[in-house]
Amino acid sequence: MATYDRIGAAYAGTRRPDARIAARIHRALGDATAVVNVGAGSGSYEPPGTVWAVEPSAVMIAQRPAGSAPALQASAESIPLPDDSADAVMALLTVHHWSDLEAGIGELRRIARERIVILTFDPDVNHRFWLLEEYLPQAAVFDSTRAVAVDRLVTLLGGARVETVPVPHDCTDGFLAAYWRRPEAYLDPQVRAGISLFAQISDDVLRPGLARLEDDLSCGRWHDRHADLLGREALDAGYRLVVAELEKQQGQVSR
Ligand SMILES: C[S@@+](CC[C@H](N)C(=O)[O-])C[C@H]1O[C@@H](n2cnc3c(N)ncnc32)[C@H](O)[C@@H]1O
Repeated sequence: MATYDRIGAAYAGTRRPDARIAARIHRALGDATAVVNVGAGSGSYEPPGTVWAVEPSAVMIAQRPAGSAPALQASAESIPLPDDSADAVMALLTVHHWSDLEAGIGELRRIARERIVILTFDPDVNHRFWLLEEYLPQAAVFDSTRAVAVDRLVTLLGGARVETVPVPHDCTDGFLAAYWRRPEAYLDPQVRAGISLFAQISDDVLRPGLARLEDDLSCGRWHDRHADLLGREALDAGYRLVVAELEKQQGQVSR
């Protein structure tokens, strides 16, 4: 069973694509008219020109809106599409779930003609996010077992540019750091269910840290400590777009 068959049932409820992040992704896709979305989930951020969604979880595929691109139930490590299937391939908030990163990136390079766009997070920055650093350090330890260093991605892609994607204070896509200025949200089990890091850790492990957060919020300690955040519009919580421009000659897979 794919991991998201177990943890993804409520994904579309809290993980609504954010328009500002969508604009960044679509700008990075450039003039691509045919796009394959790998680790596509429920279809967030897919541009109109999406020709295939590749996704291993049937539960996630079932949450794709009617009329979205056809889905292939498959993993990044072995994509049942021919070489050079699309102008661009995108893989958003997914590479840290892959069992064989090298094989998966090799497949992206094989099926993309011009460009690969990956949205990921830099663990060195992301693990300093206040929620992890101050309240749930065990979650950061668990995350270190799966997080992907950005340098490693760039190397596997054969070179790429890296862009910072700040998280707006009212971000609609409820990923880990989306609620950086809305701390009460992390006390909501439904919000946590949409964040794979929390969905994969037992509540017993999270409970003491969440209880401390609840205390700090009710006595005003969190607000005193994080007064600097309250006036900010966006935060760099480590999210990065990694964009590789491929230099393929006709019919040739660049390695
Ligand atoms: C956090 S969700 C992101 C979904 C979507 N890209 C988005 O931005 O909303 C991670 C997705 O990666 C998928 N995934 C997990 N392992 C994968 C693999 N080996 N190959 C491709 N996708 C995978 C999961 O099933 C899940 O749908």
